[in-house]
Formats: sequence, C-alpha cells, structure tokens
Amino acid sequence: MEWSYVPGPVRGDEAEALGVFWREGMESCEGLLAPELETRCRVLAEREAFTGAKGASAQGFVEDSRGTRLFLVGLGKPEEARGEDLFRAGAAEVARRAAEKGCVSLGLAAPGASDPVRSRALAEGVVLGTYRFHKYKARDEKDRFRLPDRVLVAGGDEEGCRRGAILGACQNYARDLANEPGNVVTPEAFAREARALARRYDGTCVVLDEGQLAAKGMNALLAVGRGSANPPRLVHLIRRHPEARVRVAVVGKGVTFDSGGLNIKPGDSMRTMKGDKSGACVALGVFRAVCELDLPLELHVVVGAAENMPDGGSFRPDDILRAYNGKTIEVDNTDAEGRLTLADALAYAGEQHPDRLVDLATLTGACVVALGENTAGLFSPDDALAEALAGASRASGERLWRLPMDDERLKKQLKSPVADLVNCGSRWGGAITAALFLEAFVPPGTAWAHLDIAGVDTVKEPFGWSPKGATGFGVRCLASWLETL
Ligand code: BES
Ligand code: MN
Ligand code: ZN
Repeated sequence: MEWSYVPGPVRGDEAEALGVFWREGMESCEGLLAPELETRCRVLAEREAFTGAKGASAQGFVEDSRGTRLFLVGLGKPEEARGEDLFRAGAAEVARRAAEKGCVSLGLAAPGASDPVRSRALAEGVVLGTYRFHKYKARDEKDRFRLPDRVLVAGGDEEGCRRGAILGACQNYARDLANEPGNVVTPEAFAREARALARRYDGTCVVLDEGQLAAKGMNALLAVGRGSANPPRLVHLIRRHPEARVRVAVVGKGVTFDSGGLNIKPGDSMRTMKGDKSGACVALGVFRAVCELDLPLELHVVVGAAENMPDGGSFRPDDILRAYNGKTIEVDNTDAEGRLTLADALAYAGEQHPDRLVDLATLTGACVVALGENTAGLFSPDDALAEALAGASRASGERLWRLPMDDERLKKQLKSPVADLVNCGSRWGGAITAALFLEAFVPPGTAWAHLDIAGVDTVKEPFGWSPKGATGFGVRCLASWLETL
C-alpha cells in the first residue's frame, strides 16, 4: 500500500473509491471537498436518507468519468465522539467495502486529518479493516477481494499515516498467527516464528526445550504440556537498543490449544481454543511494532508455550507442582492451565529485572462474564502503571477496564491445605482470583499489570476494525503505551 496526502480539496476522481466523513446535520466538510463533489455527496445522502448520524454509512455509485464509488461515513454529533474510534472504524468499513469491490485505489476525506493522531487512526482503520485470513481457502473464493495499492488521505499527516500503517500491519501479523490452528502452530512452531523475528529484526531468541525446562525447574509449564505429543517450549525474545531508557518485559499466554486437559472442556467450549495463544501472538506483534517504530527501549518477550491435552501422561487434579520460583501449586483443575504456564513465564521474566512487566492472557471465562466481549480486564497493584495503560487504551480504542486486586477475602480462596497455593478458587470473582494467583509469581517490587483478553481475542462477527476471527487485541494499546515511555 502506497500512501499519499493530497493537500487541496478532493475532486472525486483521485481514486476508485472515496470515503467521506460527515458530522450529523451534514455541515460542510471544512473545505475538504471541491464544490462539485460536495454537491454529489449531498445528492447521494438525500437519496439514501443519510444524515451523518453516528455509525450510519451510505454507499452510492455516482457516475462520472472515472466512476468513483462514494461512501459516506456518519460521525454523529461532536459530543458523541469517543477518541478516534469513529474515524478508525469508519476507515475500516470504507476500506473493507472498497476491497470487496476490487478497487485498486482508495481516498479518504475526513475533517481534521492534518492531526497526526487522526491520520494514524485512519491508516490503522484501512489496514485493520481489510484484514482477511483466507490462506487455506480455494483461490476463486478470494479473488474478488483486493487490497488497494494506493491510499490517499486528504490533507493527511504523513508521519501519522506511516505509524498507523505500521501498527495495523503488526496487529494483522498477530491476527495471522493467532488464526493458525493448533495442528499448525504447535509450541515448537511458535518458537520457530519467534526465532524468525529475532533474525529479521536483529534481536536474540532463546528457546528452552523440555529437557532444559526440567533442568531449570519450570515444572508448572512442563505439567501443562505433559499430555501433548507437542512438547512445551519457553521462548525468550530480546530486543536491545543503544539508547534504551527503560527495560520492559511482555509475557504472553501461549497455550497453542486448550482442550482443558483431563478436566476436558465440552465440545462447544473447545471451539476457538486455538485462540488460547492470542496473548503470545500479540506479544510478538508488540515486538515487531517496537522494532519497526524503532522505540528506544529494551524489550523482552517471554512465552511459555504448551498444548493442554488429555492423555495417560497428562498432569492431573490433585497433583502438586513446584514452579520455577520454588512455590508449590496444588492442581484443582487442569483447565486452569494458563496461570500455570504464566507462573513460570512471569517468574522467568522477573529475573530480567524489567522496569515494567505486562502480561496478556486469554485467562478466564469469568472475565468475559464480567466485561463482555469488547473490553479486556486490567489488573495491577500499581496505580501509575494501570493509569498509563488506561490512557493507551483510550488512544488505541482497545478497551480496558480495571478490576480490583486488593480483596483479601478472595485471596484466601487460593490457600491450599497441601501446597503454597491452589490453582483455582470458586466461580465467583474467577478473573480476580486468577490475577491474584499470577501475582504470587511476580517478584515483589516489580511494576506489573495483567490483561485478561479472554473476551476480546476473537470476534464471531465483524465489528468496527475487527474482521471475523482473531483481533490481535493489545498490539496497538501496548505499542501506544510503549511510545510514551
Ligand atoms: N483458556 C481458558 C479461558 C477462556 C475462556 C478463554 C473462554 C477464552 C474464552 C482458560 O484456560 C480456562 O479454561 N479457564 C477456566 C478456569 C477455571 C477452570 C477456573 C474458565 O474460565 O472456565
Ligand atoms: Mn483452560
Ligand atoms: Zn486456557
């Protein structure tokens, strides 16, 4: 995709498809449109009964010498705006429709596009909205769909568009990896992908195999992978920078498939569990974003990759495991496996003495019950870190909501009669007890936050800038946060 930034008013013949963003009431578009095009838009709006109301869009085919397809995007009233979300989602919808029509060039005319923040949102929308995972589909089915070669943003900001396009591509990379099924992305295949990133971006990748995991005492991660023919791996990807001011560790849950293990899931709940590696895929997407934006920081990505399967060799309920940091864990339920893999990964990441440590995990169904499928849970004992992440959440449109970690009564549920901790509490407050469990494996004094992305890692139906399937949720939120460090 090639980006350009036509400075003057748009005539309408610059691209095969053109998206025009309007405020409610169809106020004039701040000199963005040449008078003739503005008239054509108004005719289309009238015909389609389009008023510019929030979320409303209209599409019309207006005859002219080039046959430009016009799309109108409603922005609603100014007070209804939620950050740049309407611009990101609007650009995504226009770009997706244009791609479905096979348009090779796309123009966007949106008020305020000279603001780098707005241009960035528009570019993110175009890249994220035209994402598809169709590599396994027959050729003829995907032929109509075509990514635009050229995108022009009227009055746009070059640097804003450049960063937006990078972030969108990094998130699409995370989506691609997360959409791969468990028979393709095994723990070793995931490690191979991390090694490829290290080569490509001149980083370092350390991979521990099952023998090395045993030698190091990472028995919680090993236990989860024990029932699988695909043995677990610990993946540690490092990116250094000569002017690094801060060291950050990002830990991702990398359960390549979660059958539940011996506490096997019913069939319906098992569908989509290829997505249980989403946190790890997003962590790799963040790694790419940091490298491509050349952010001056040292980044460590740590993933305990394992497949949770039932087998004669599986770990079992009642087992007592000794984690990497020496704490013992009584297994109550083999389906609460994510926190076991994270226990070892967090303790290992803590050894790198990061200034900030953030983990992303499709950890609990309870978090989905609490917040729904469009908001991830944010847990942190550190107010400053939680506030910084919440700010990045608003900027990126990736919704986070903080849940409490100071409930001593809930914490009691993690007490075990036979070990230091048990791996799950009761049904109530299940997302919080999971977070409290993780906290026991983070070295004291480390600024740490946990994002429970169980509800947001995939969408069943396209929404906003997320086509069906893996969303890559977290790549832009974390990258935006890292930009501020
Ligand atoms: N991977 C699941 C959580 C999950 C649920 C992710 C729905 C995405 C959508 C996790 O490993 C799990 O099974 N959690 C259990 C925990 C319980 C056994 C304490 C759950 O949420 O039911
Ligand atoms: Mn599970
Ligand atoms: Zn899981």
